[in-house]
Amino acid sequence: MTPSRAALLQIRGLRVVTPDGRRLVDGVDLTVSPGAAVALAGESGSGKSLLAQAVLGVLPKGLQVHADRMRLQQGESVVDLLQAPPSQRRALLGRQLGMVWQDPLLALTPVLTVGAQLEEALRHHHGVDKLTARADGLRRLEQVGLQDPRGAARALPHELSGGMRQRVTVALALAGDPVLLVADEPTTALDATTQLHVLRVLEAERDRRGLALLLISHDLGIAAACTDEIHVMYSGRVVESGPSQEVLSTPKHPYTLGLVYARKGRVGRRFGGVAGKVPSPSDRPTGCAFRVRCPFEVAACADESPDLVAIADGHRIACPPVSEGRVSPTTWPREVSS
Ligand SMILES: Nc1ncnc2c1ncn2[C@@H]1O[C@H](COP(=O)(O)OP(=O)(O)OP(=O)(O)O)[C@@H](O)[C@H]1O
Ligand SMILES: [Mg+2]
Repeated sequence: MTPSRAALLQIRGLRVVTPDGRRLVDGVDLTVSPGAAVALAGESGSGKSLLAQAVLGVLPKGLQVHADRMRLQQGESVVDLLQAPPSQRRALLGRQLGMVWQDPLLALTPVLTVGAQLEEALRHHHGVDKLTARADGLRRLEQVGLQDPRGAARALPHELSGGMRQRVTVALALAGDPVLLVADEPTTALDATTQLHVLRVLEAERDRRGLALLLISHDLGIAAACTDEIHVMYSGRVVESGPSQEVLSTPKHPYTLGLVYARKGRVGRRFGGVAGKVPSPSDRPTGCAFRVRCPFEVAACADESPDLVAIADGHRIACPPVSEGRVSPTTWPREVSS
């Protein structure tokens, strides 16, 4: 597929590799248009966070990034994220790229009050004076749903509950009014009402100033509810991508189908979802990495790791038996895994 010239973020063939050659992310294509909301979904260990960290240039030490292309549109120019020196990459953080970390403590300095950290970020990004930054900080804490913004501003991160801390990290990630926000499980630690509130804050930012969103969630329902397009990852690869509601309502890849059925299980029906777990990157089966958990496996699945193939407009899957019409799974077997 030819990437759109208007794309904000364009990634082709992204791989994140360990020093001993294990591919933790193994050839991912991703395009985010200005103002678009795109989700990455999949179980634990599928490579979602590493992909996000590769985009932000904040991968753990030792991991290497390879890609055919990784570009970010910045105003009228295009930054090659593979070639940009560390100083240029750092300068993108905040104003161009914001990140909500999966672990809120990673985003916060333990010995500084929440107010001081937010104030510092606002002064740094917007060049405003202390008083303006303080007032704006309180407004932003209120905006993410903290009922006592003054109290929260005076607190050290560890003095807040997990949910409050997560909301603070959302406020911090938005402090630079970034063009693209990468939000890694921004609502996992939150109760349902607060989850909704945080997602509404992100939606409001999209409406107000065209914020683009790359939302990471293991919950397909949350991912689909607030995005236009979804990429389902499994063991370092994208196995299905397409319009969010379409993928949720008519999943085509057996793995996505299993995830959808696992969600139904949570609301009371006895489905076990997908038995087993994502293989470790050093222990992937040959061929399709999902085949050992797949009730629809055929002999050819062991042959090679399948690429994504279009099955409808904008909807692609990496499962030859389904895309070639040899099997057409519509329900997940009624087995309970535990
Ligand atoms: N620094 C590292 N060195 C080696 N392997 C790593 C490193 N960080 C992560 N991994 C491995 O890479 C794979 C993908 O990890 P990643 O954190 O991206 O998964 P994830 O999809 O974000 O999962 P979760 O939903 O649990 O957050 C996992 O198998 C993980 O164990
Ligand atoms: Mg993660």
